[in-house]
Amino acid sequence: MKEENDIVLRCSSIVKYFTTPVKFKALNNISFTIQRGEFLSLIGKSGSGKSTLLYVLSTMDTDYEGTLEINNTLLTGKTLNQLSDFRNEHIGFVFQFHFLLPEFSCLKNVMLPALKLGKKSEKEVEHDAYEKLRLLGVADQALKTANTLSGGQQQRVAIARALINNPTIIMGDEPTGNLDKTNSDIVFGIFRELTADYGQTIIAVTHDQDFAQRTDRIIELSDGELLTSNR
Ligand SMILES: Nc1ncnc2c1ncn2[C@@H]1O[C@H](COP(=O)(O)OP(=O)(O)O)[C@@H](O)[C@H]1O
Ligand SMILES: [Mg+2]
Repeated sequence: MKEENDIVLRCSSIVKYFTTPVKFKALNNISFTIQRGEFLSLIGKSGSGKSTLLYVLSTMDTDYEGTLEINNTLLTGKTLNQLSDFRNEHIGFVFQFHFLLPEFSCLKNVMLPALKLGKKSEKEVEHDAYEKLRLLGVADQALKTANTLSGGQQQRVAIARALINNPTIIMGDEPTGNLDKTNSDIVFGIFRELTADYGQTIIAVTHDQDFAQRTDRIIELSDGELLTSNR
């Protein structure tokens, strides 16, 4: 059973305005919590505010009202440098397009965020990177340059990279948006395993109804407002 107080993310009364071309309220009073080990999908029509909300939750956007806490740390009001450090340690990103460095080996791509964090030796980081690549079933690709892998393999390497610092939460914006059904199912299965077996927390923006229905919990936005959330 998940503990009631095992909350990894809490956002309270988030309001977000865009000011150009005209003042426009993109997020209206968004409050919810996410518990450790939850696999959550964020859905809603195009333009409903999904990417805007994920941008706030990921600490990339600091121009909002309300408060954001991750791992019991209040992030609202922190400096950009503090937020950058926090993200590297606590948030793993998986995007629609993988953003791997194409000329670098898969191993090196996975190692980079940990080398940047600087808490472990290069040898330890390499060991960790192999472990993540094995978990994702692509350890045999470690020494190839990223641009020689298939799309599905590249996305798995990107997930290994997102996991390298054992983040508090993985955030994805359409993480399967660029994959065919087979690879999309593989990535879904990996997310499911990470949450169920490793207690990883995941929030994924998706427009794929089938994907969303199979997650633990769906949060739906409509015109910047939360439609469904049970907490
Ligand atoms: N940088 C921006 N400047 C002005 N308006 C924006 C900006 N980014 C997004 N919006 C508007 O905010 C709303 C939500 O956008 P977005 O979060 O990208 O929606 P979704 O990801 O759900 O498709 C839309 O009306 C969009 O036009
Ligand atoms: Mg979007």
